[in-house]
Amino acid sequence: MGNIKITKSETSKFDEIDWNNLGFGKYFGDHVYISDYKDGKWSEGEIVPYSDMSAEPALCTLHYGQTIFEGLKAFYSVDGGANIFRPDMNAKRLNVSAKTLCIPAYDEARFLEACHDLVLLDRKFIPKEKGQSLYLRPLVYGTGNFLGVHTSDTYRMIIMSSPVASYYAEGLAPLKILVSDQYVRTVRGGLGAAKTAANYAASLLAGTKAKEQGFAQVLWLDGVSLDYVDEVGAMNIMFVIEDELITPPLWQGTLLAGVTRDTVLKLADEMRLKVSERQIRISEVFKAHNEGKLQEVFGTGTAAVISPVGLLSHKRVEITINDFQIGPLAQKFYDVITSIQHGETKDERNWVMRVNF
Ligand SMILES: Cc1ncc(COP(=O)(O)O)c(C=O)c1O
Repeated sequence: MGNIKITKSETSKFDEIDWNNLGFGKYFGDHVYISDYKDGKWSEGEIVPYSDMSAEPALCTLHYGQTIFEGLKAFYSVDGGANIFRPDMNAKRLNVSAKTLCIPAYDEARFLEACHDLVLLDRKFIPKEKGQSLYLRPLVYGTGNFLGVHTSDTYRMIIMSSPVASYYAEGLAPLKILVSDQYVRTVRGGLGAAKTAANYAASLLAGTKAKEQGFAQVLWLDGVSLDYVDEVGAMNIMFVIEDELITPPLWQGTLLAGVTRDTVLKLADEMRLKVSERQIRISEVFKAHNEGKLQEVFGTGTAAVISPVGLLSHKRVEITINDFQIGPLAQKFYDVITSIQHGETKDERNWVMRVNF
């Protein structure tokens, strides 16, 4: 750590930030990490000022979408310095996405070093309040200039940062979610398990329509039968039916292997909860609700950590979950995870990469 070449910015965007109204992804740190792939290898990489980038009209990524990204967070720690939460998981998942999109793998140790050194340099951008953080957005894309559907020979990796509040304006407050019965995000054999632009492009129309109807997000069903639950736009989904914590499995390759999902499943195991990674039909969820067995529904994701779901709407049938209140398990997971992230609880599981300053 601390070995990456740095060119410091002569100006700072720091004073432009409205710290009382951070929102999500509106403001950016002063620096970015950049590494380029050429002639079969990645360059060492360096940290440079955040600035405009030029692009030719033929930039292949703009046309064909050979691009992947990640999302992770650095938190202000109560014992000084910052904590980056489970960045090793993001390094690995970036390479899973890379494989799916035919992009050359990035060295995981170098990825971690880059995240560390960027957070250290732009530490003044880490917000201090609980729940806020410096979001890191690693991005890799083809930099070739050509028309024609084939892979690029050259790539760029960028890591940028953004001081953020919670992703949802609601914070840890129950969301209204529309179960999509018309649009699908991905199918088996598709790109669903990769964090790639195409999956988010596929969600835009349904998401826009859902927002127009007053919903915060879309819950996606499987792309073949529209029966089984997959995930939410930017979160994995969990159901508590009687005493069972249920979340859709990863083996079909249609959903993202969320870091928060993994974190919650590990904590649930430690709490000796009955945990099932299994397929679940949307009809089972509604039936459980009608029988009074559906205790909680919540999403898990880096952006909001835990998002309780207060209402699900499917084919114009609406169910209200837990009286639109935050459920006890959602609250528990939120409290445990955020206290580890902010250094209030000892990091017994080695989930945190420290940035000392
Ligand atoms: C489609 C999708 N599913 C799930 C997640 C949750 O993943 P994580 O917990 O790693 O943020 C995200 C967010 O990154 C996402 O974009």
